[in-house]
Amino acid sequence: MEVKKIAVMGYGTVGSGVVEVFYKNYASIKRRTGAEMDIKYILDIRDFPGNEYESKFIKDFNIIESDPEVAIVVETIGGIGLAYDFVRRSLLAGKSVVTSNKELVAEKGAELLQIARDKGVMFLFEASVGGGIPIIHPLHQCLAANEIYGVEGILNGTTNYILTKMIREKMSFETALKQAQDLGYAERNPDADVLGHDACRKICILAAIAFGKHVYPKYVSTEGITSVTAEDVEYAAGFGGVIKLIGSTSRREDGRIEIEVSPAFVPSESQLSGVDDVFNGILVRGDATGDVVFYGKGAGKLPTASAVMADVIDAAKGSEGAKNMFWVDTGCDETVPHGEIEHRFYLRLAGAEAAKAAAAMEGAQVLYREKQPDEEAAVITAVVSYDALDALKAQLESSGVKVLANIRVLEN
Ligand code: HSE
Repeated sequence: MEVKKIAVMGYGTVGSGVVEVFYKNYASIKRRTGAEMDIKYILDIRDFPGNEYESKFIKDFNIIESDPEVAIVVETIGGIGLAYDFVRRSLLAGKSVVTSNKELVAEKGAELLQIARDKGVMFLFEASVGGGIPIIHPLHQCLAANEIYGVEGILNGTTNYILTKMIREKMSFETALKQAQDLGYAERNPDADVLGHDACRKICILAAIAFGKHVYPKYVSTEGITSVTAEDVEYAAGFGGVIKLIGSTSRREDGRIEIEVSPAFVPSESQLSGVDDVFNGILVRGDATGDVVFYGKGAGKLPTASAVMADVIDAAKGSEGAKNMFWVDTGCDETVPHGEIEHRFYLRLAGAEAAKAAAAMEGAQVLYREKQPDEEAAVITAVVSYDALDALKAQLESSGVKVLANIRVLEN
């Protein structure tokens, strides 16, 4: 029987998890694939003396590229430098590629899918969004009969872990981040997590699958969690909700795409409000299904390795559904300008006139918190656009009221 040979590129948290899961669960993987498989190479620039798979380690990508026996390449290097070059060359060499690299998919997905299609191989990336949660294939295949009109989610495990610890245990931002890093959740550079870039890449990938067009991260307004304070968390509780980092996208009737990443007040009635710790929750709104929610561990070695292995099995089986994954690069920005997007907003105000200004705001709901200082006020505004919000903030500032925070409200 033919043995399908795999090469794993990058032996970091996810790559080592893939190798571990492959050998630990080989019997069931083989049963599901219906074929023999083995990992022939592990590519990494580092040495791993004493590692049980030491004989498989190589440092030269050319060995993988030129070995016709290697049918499937797993990329867990990260970034879009070497990873992009190696993935592109692997596809051009007629090998299917499985990746967990969301930056690669968000920046180069349309191009790599086109090469895979031309070469009759697969480019698969279930692990790039939601860690161990199946979301890419369900969105592409199981919900294929739907017009998807929106997706919103908690897409970054590290920031969700940090916010949960800050809210529940009053832990400092730094301590919670350190814990997330120790648990293997964070990116190598945690700025990508806390500034929202990781969530941005993931919502871009989901938008591309949902709407069939590549959405580049550079067009997406992205804000992380670094300015969320304990006071905002208290006002969110007063509102009847929690603060979460939300990536959201929807399609307007004219075909343009609304997309953004920012903290949001999530009301307790929302299915996303109870998604805590490292868990991710992704809500897909379809015209036939209504709302469907995907929930599970969004980061970590073994959950992510599990998603990678599911793709390896699909690639080995040559699954037809997986082969059809595709979207186009239209070559232009089809997103709605950020200033036009509308929400209700939470505003935290300070100054001698703050309470008066809050009470006078048309259509606004005033919020309270315990031990609220005299010169502080908070409101939820009526629905306004970001442009109108900027004008409102400028008007408040010019009348001597400081705007200390503004956070959108996620509607159910
Ligand atoms: N750093 C990412 C997260 C890893 O925390 O969600 C999974 O993509």
